[in-house]
Amino acid sequence: MHLVNLLFFLFAFFSCNVLAQYTRFNTSVIPVTKDAKTSLHKITWFLKKRTWDGEPYYLVDLDAPFTWQDCVVRRSPIACGLEEGCRFPLKCDDNFCKEAHSYINPTCPSLNITSKYGCNICAVTPLNPISNSCKLSQLTTDLVQLYGTDGRNPSFISYPPFGTEFVVSCAPSSLLRSFPKDITGVASFSWSTLSFPGQVYNPKVTNKFVLCLPNSSKSLGAIFLGEGPFYFTSFPNVDLRSILSYTPMVRKSKKSLGYYIGIKKISIKEISIPLPSLKSGSVKLSTVTPYTTLRSDIYKAFVTIFSVATKSIPRMKSVQPFSYCLKSSAVGSVEKGFRVPKIDLETESGKIWTIYGDNLMKRVGNGTACLAVIDGGSKMKDAIVVGTFQMENNFLYFDLVNQKLGFSSSLLARGTSCSNFNFTEIPE
Ligand SMILES: *[C@@H]1O[C@H](CO)[C@@H](O)[C@H](O)[C@H]1NC(C)=O
Ligand SMILES: *[C@@H]1O[C@H](CO)[C@@H](O)[C@H](O)[C@H]1NC(C)=O
Ligand SMILES: *[C@@H]1O[C@H](CO)[C@@H](O)[C@H](O)[C@H]1NC(C)=O
Ligand SMILES: *[C@@H]1O[C@H](CO)[C@@H](O)[C@H](O)[C@H]1NC(C)=O
Ligand SMILES: *[C@@H]1O[C@H](CO)[C@@H](O)[C@H](O)[C@H]1NC(C)=O
Repeated sequence: MHLVNLLFFLFAFFSCNVLAQYTRFNTSVIPVTKDAKTSLHKITWFLKKRTWDGEPYYLVDLDAPFTWQDCVVRRSPIACGLEEGCRFPLKCDDNFCKEAHSYINPTCPSLNITSKYGCNICAVTPLNPISNSCKLSQLTTDLVQLYGTDGRNPSFISYPPFGTEFVVSCAPSSLLRSFPKDITGVASFSWSTLSFPGQVYNPKVTNKFVLCLPNSSKSLGAIFLGEGPFYFTSFPNVDLRSILSYTPMVRKSKKSLGYYIGIKKISIKEISIPLPSLKSGSVKLSTVTPYTTLRSDIYKAFVTIFSVATKSIPRMKSVQPFSYCLKSSAVGSVEKGFRVPKIDLETESGKIWTIYGDNLMKRVGNGTACLAVIDGGSKMKDAIVVGTFQMENNFLYFDLVNQKLGFSSSLLARGTSCSNFNFTEIPE
C-alpha cells in the first residue's frame, strides 16, 4: 500500500466529520466569486490556486438535496489520494442513502436499478438547476479541507493532512452542460441534512450559515458556516450580527428544501404594490436565479409604480432580458446618491428589507442601466423569487436552528461590502 494512501486511510478512519473537533474555531469561511458571464455565484474550498488540475468550483444552490460533482465512482477498496478525491461508494442501506432517497425528484429518471447492481451502490439522480436536467449516478464520499475563522481571518486547518470526508453524489460530465467551464458541480446549502452546512457535525459549529455574495468577478465574497462572530475590515469593531434584522423562515414541509420568507408589503416611495393571493412564506430565495423574478401580475404593478417614481430619468431602449431601462448617467449609485427610489420589503416580522439602487439597476453598457427584475410569466410556482443580483452585498444569515433569516439590507449603504472580509491567512 502506498504510504500516502495508508496514512490517509488511517485519518479517514478516525475523522468522519467536516471541520472536526481538533480546531479551536467554531466557524468556517469559504470564499465565493461571481462568474462574469452568467452572474452565477460559485465557491471553491481552496484559497490558494491548485496547480495540478485547475480550480474546482461549485455552484451555490439553496435548493439541492445533496452536493454533486463531476466524478466517476472508483471501486478501489483502498482510499485514493487527495488529487483524485477519495471515493467510497455508499451502499443502498446506508442512512445517507435513505436520506438522499427521501428527496427524489419525480422528473428525474427512475432509480430502479437495484436489480442490476444489487445493494452495493446508492443510486441517486443529481439535478442541474439551470437546465433542469438530471442524470442517474451514485452517492459516494470525497474530501474537503476547510478554513476555520476567528471571524476576522481564515486559518487553514492542516490536520488531518488530506481533509475530511463528506457525502457527495458523482455525476457524468454531460450534466455540467449550461454551466460556466470552471464549475464542476453544485454545492447544496438547503434544509437537507445532506447539505454542505448540514454535514458539519462538530457540535461547536451550529447549523447556521451566512451568504455574502460579491457584486463582481474581481472580488471575493464570503460564506460562513457556524454562528460567528463576523467582522469586515471596514468596521473592525462591529460584529455584523449586530446590524441584522430577523424574520421567520418558512419551511413548507418536512421535506421541503428551499428557503422562504413572508413579505407583507412591497412599497416604492410609500406607494405599495398590491400582492394578490400572496400567502405568507411565499417569497423564495434562490441562488440559481440571477435576477428577482415576479409573477406577471405583480411584475406589471411593480414596473408601473417604479416608472412613475422614475419618470424624471430619461428612458432607454430595453436590453434583454430586461424591459425597463434608464439612462445610466442619471441613475447614480450608493456613493453618489441614488436617483432611483429604494424599494421596501416589509417582512412577516415587520422589519424592512430595503433594496437600494445598486441592487436594482444593472449597468448593461451603452449608457444604459436596466431594472434587474424579470417577468416570470403568469404560471410561476412561487409568485416572487428573490435572485442573486438583489442579494449581492447583503449579509444574509440563515439560522436553521431557530428557522429565521437575519438580513442587513445593502452593506454598501453602510460603507462596507461583501468583499471586505480579510482573506489573509493567520496560523491555526
Ligand atoms: C424495479 O425493477 C424490477 C426488475 O426490473 C421490477 O420487478 C420491479 O417491479 C420494479 N419496481 C418498480 C417500483 O418499478
Ligand atoms: C464560538 O466562538 C466564539 C469566540 O470565538 C464564542 O464567542 C462563541 O460563543 C462560540 N460559539 C459556540 C456556539 O460555541
Ligand atoms: C461593485 O461594488 C463596488 C462598490 O463596492 C462598485 O465600486 C463597483 O462598481 C461594483 N461593481 C459592479 C460590477 O457593479
Ligand atoms: C488583514 O489581516 C492581516 C493579518 O491579520 C493584517 O496584517 C492586515 O493588516 C489585515 N488587513 C486589513 C485591510 O485589515
Ligand atoms: C451599443 O449600441 C450599439 C449601437 O446601437 C450596438 O451595436 C451595441 O450592440 C450596443 N452594445 C451593448 C453592449 O448593448
